[in-house]
Amino acid sequence: MKSIAQQLKTRFDKAFAAAFGESAAGIDLMLVPASNPQFGDFQCNAAMNLGKKLGKPPRAIASTIIENLDIADICETPAIAGPGFINLKLKPAYLEAQVSAIAADSRLGISQTQTPQRVAIDFSGPNIAKEMHVGHLRSTIIGDAIARILEFIGHDVLRINHIGDWGTQFGMLITYLRSVHPEALTTANALDLGDLVAFYRQAKQRFDTDETFKETARQEVVKLQAGAEDTRRAWKLLCDQSRREFQVIYDLLDIQLTERGESFYNPLLPAVVEDLTELGLLVESDGAKCVFVDGFTNFEGEPLPLIIQKTDGGYNYATTDLAAVRYRIKEDGAKRLIYVTDSGQANHFAQVFAVARKAGWIPEDVEIVHVPFGLVLGEDGKKLKTRSGETVRLQDLLDEAIVRTRQDLETRLAAEEREETADFIANVSQTVGLSAVKYADLSQNRASNYVFSYDKMLALQGNTAPYMLYAYVRVQGIRRKGEIDFDNLDAGAKVILQSDAELVLAKHLLQFNEVVSAVGGDLLPNRICQYLFELSQKFNQFFEQCPVLKAEEPLRTSRLILCDLTARTLKLGLGLLGIQVLERM
Ligand code: ARG
Repeated sequence: MKSIAQQLKTRFDKAFAAAFGESAAGIDLMLVPASNPQFGDFQCNAAMNLGKKLGKPPRAIASTIIENLDIADICETPAIAGPGFINLKLKPAYLEAQVSAIAADSRLGISQTQTPQRVAIDFSGPNIAKEMHVGHLRSTIIGDAIARILEFIGHDVLRINHIGDWGTQFGMLITYLRSVHPEALTTANALDLGDLVAFYRQAKQRFDTDETFKETARQEVVKLQAGAEDTRRAWKLLCDQSRREFQVIYDLLDIQLTERGESFYNPLLPAVVEDLTELGLLVESDGAKCVFVDGFTNFEGEPLPLIIQKTDGGYNYATTDLAAVRYRIKEDGAKRLIYVTDSGQANHFAQVFAVARKAGWIPEDVEIVHVPFGLVLGEDGKKLKTRSGETVRLQDLLDEAIVRTRQDLETRLAAEEREETADFIANVSQTVGLSAVKYADLSQNRASNYVFSYDKMLALQGNTAPYMLYAYVRVQGIRRKGEIDFDNLDAGAKVILQSDAELVLAKHLLQFNEVVSAVGGDLLPNRICQYLFELSQKFNQFFEQCPVLKAEEPLRTSRLILCDLTARTLKLGLGLLGIQVLERM
């Protein structure tokens, strides 16, 4: 559906064309939400610029615009203020019709794109034999939300898990396990990820201190590259082991991903080197094959190369990413490539993109973006660590959120003298706990660091998942209490907007489309969180000020429609963030 702003724009475009013809072509309408609700809902600030351009007083321009404006069905008579602002106040009748229209729409007025694209989103990307850490958690949560949003808008999204499943670390890990735990290389499930991570650490230590070990490990990598059967089998077992552990987290968080790890691109790497050589972009520098692109310098201000092939013939993280860029564009047909990783990788991606561009591998109609995010900090403001100073295991972090939610819930049930089944308690604890973790992450502007605090994310007040879920539950409470069948409210019922609280809520409900569309562009899911937070607040105000079940008809049904529309908006909006609602909590 067209948003209110879009509808107004159409009317203003017509008025401008009628009033000024060609001379107003391309002028910015400067149609924005009113700076102060006292002035109305929207304002058009174009008369000042246009006045300058046409050499006429802006207030006169503003009157000419209004004379040509056919808008009586949408707004009260526009008013001119100050030097030539045009203030617009939406008519309740218009708002009522708009609310009815989105209430009748299963998409709640959210437009489907006219230009669907294939979008490749690269997110999560944990590494084999290493623990998935909070950085991967952020990538997973943010990437999944972006995927859900773009899918809902109508794009064809590939959710790619670029896991670290290739490289020299396997040589040292396999060599080490051959000596200390050979059965792990031949039997499935001989280890769990915790052991694997510990072995990895020990292997790394040997690698750094023991020359013979180092050499054997190197040969093992060569065997892996060459496809030697026993090494391949060992490698595959290790990958499966990690994969199973990652899957536990993905299942818990309801994340869908298609694995296409680094190893997938291995056969495509020589062609990257060949093509860069042919293009004359590859330069030898200290024995390594590199590409230099303008604008990248090291600390000393010297040109910083992107290393494509190391002296020993090995390839780099960046080489794989170049192959992946080509694959996603050529084979997948992606028109938008999105990479969700921590901001620490911003330079890596900027350089990879620049090289790909220089090589002519990114066509005009393809957009390629890094979507960076900040760090997760502990309550001490430093990088999140366990009390003993180790990296926090994701599984532990999520379990803790569920346990804490359960404690809060049980306290609340006791205080309210409510009896609930064990199933109910388990289900609510899990849903609320995991939602709280996701929401706490998504509600921050992703570029900034945020402090991980169970107390804050589980609070019932504020911009938190529980607050939002409560607003939803509130509506379900009304449904049960009044035995309301929201799907079959009187079909002829009208939405009536009389009190301020109703108008404020209705206007907010009508902005959902715009917010979701905007996030499809800027990939900032926190804007949806902010929108839903304000929606919950406005709904709670409405609910305090306007009786619903006790109201007389036709107000009662109208208010029920507002309640239901709020609940559906919350459900859809939270769903776009990968968060489920509850009927009771
Ligand atoms: N495995 C990487 C890491 O743990 C993330 C992969 C990101 N994606 C990519 N195409 N480089 O940091």
